[in-house]
Amino acid sequence: MSLERDLRDLARDVAIDAGDLAQRRRAEGVRVAASKSTMADIVTEADREVEALIRARLAEERPDDGFLGEESGTASGTSGVTWVVDPIDGTVNYASGMPSYAVSIAAVRGGETLATWEALAGVVRAPALGETYLAARGDGARVETESGSDALRVATDFPAGTLLATGFGYDPRTHQGDIDTVRRVMPIARDVRRIGAAAIDLSYVAAGRLDGYFERGLNPWDLAAGALLVEEAGGSVRELPEDGFGRRMTIAGHAPLVDRIADRILDGAAS
Ligand code: IPD
Repeated sequence: MSLERDLRDLARDVAIDAGDLAQRRRAEGVRVAASKSTMADIVTEADREVEALIRARLAEERPDDGFLGEESGTASGTSGVTWVVDPIDGTVNYASGMPSYAVSIAAVRGGETLATWEALAGVVRAPALGETYLAARGDGARVETESGSDALRVATDFPAGTLLATGFGYDPRTHQGDIDTVRRVMPIARDVRRIGAAAIDLSYVAAGRLDGYFERGLNPWDLAAGALLVEEAGGSVRELPEDGFGRRMTIAGHAPLVDRIADRILDGAAS
C-alpha cells in the first residue's frame, strides 16, 4: 500500500461519515427551521460541526499532519502532509434543499495553493447524490456508488460542442466580469451549467459528464480534491492570473480544451 492510497482510503472513510452527518443535520434543520435566518444559523452550525468531525478523525489517525479548513483555519504539522478540507461545498444548495453539495477532503504536500502543492489524495463525497469520487496520485480516479465502482476519464472529443460549467462569486461587484467571461466562452459551448458546488463541478469533469469547467475566485478547499480527480482522470487544471478583485481563474478539462477556454477568456479570440 502506498502513502497516497492510505491517505485516499482514510479520506474516503472520514468523508462518508462527514457526509452522513451533514445529511442528518440537513434533515433535522428542515424540520426545526421555518425561517430563512434560522436556516442560515443551522447551516453555519452544520458546516462547523462537520469540519470538527473531519478534523478530529484525521488528527486521531494522523496526529502529525497539518490542516487547512474552510471553517476552522490552519494548523501546521510535522509530517509534511496537510489536509485541505471543505466540510460542505455548495452551502447555498445545502441550505436551499438542493442535493448538489459535497464534503471535499484532500491531502497535499508543499504549499497551500494549487500552484505550490502536490496533491496526494482527494475525495469528494456527495451524500445526497450517493456518490463518492476518489483519487490517489498515480493511481487514477474512480467513482463509487451503491451499484459499484467506475474508473473516471475526462471527455476528449466533443461532437456536439462542449458542455461546460461555471460559477459566480457572491460579491455583486464581480458579476459583470463573470458574465462577460461566459459571453466570451459561449461560442465554443453547447451549453453552460451552474451547479453551485465547485467540488462537484470538478468531479463531473473527471467523470466526463461535463467537458470543462471555469470559475474565478475558488478557495484552496473548494478545488484541492477535485483538481486531483481531474488530473488522475487524464485531464488538466490551469490557473490564470488574478483579476482586479484578486481572483484567480481556474479552468479544468482535457488539456487542449482548457487552452481553448483560456484563450477565449484572455482575449476573446476565436479558437
Ligand atoms: C462555493 C461553491 C460555489 C462556488 C463558490 C464556492 P462553498 O463553496 O463551490 O459553487 O461558486 O466559489 O465558494 O462556499 O459552498 O463552500
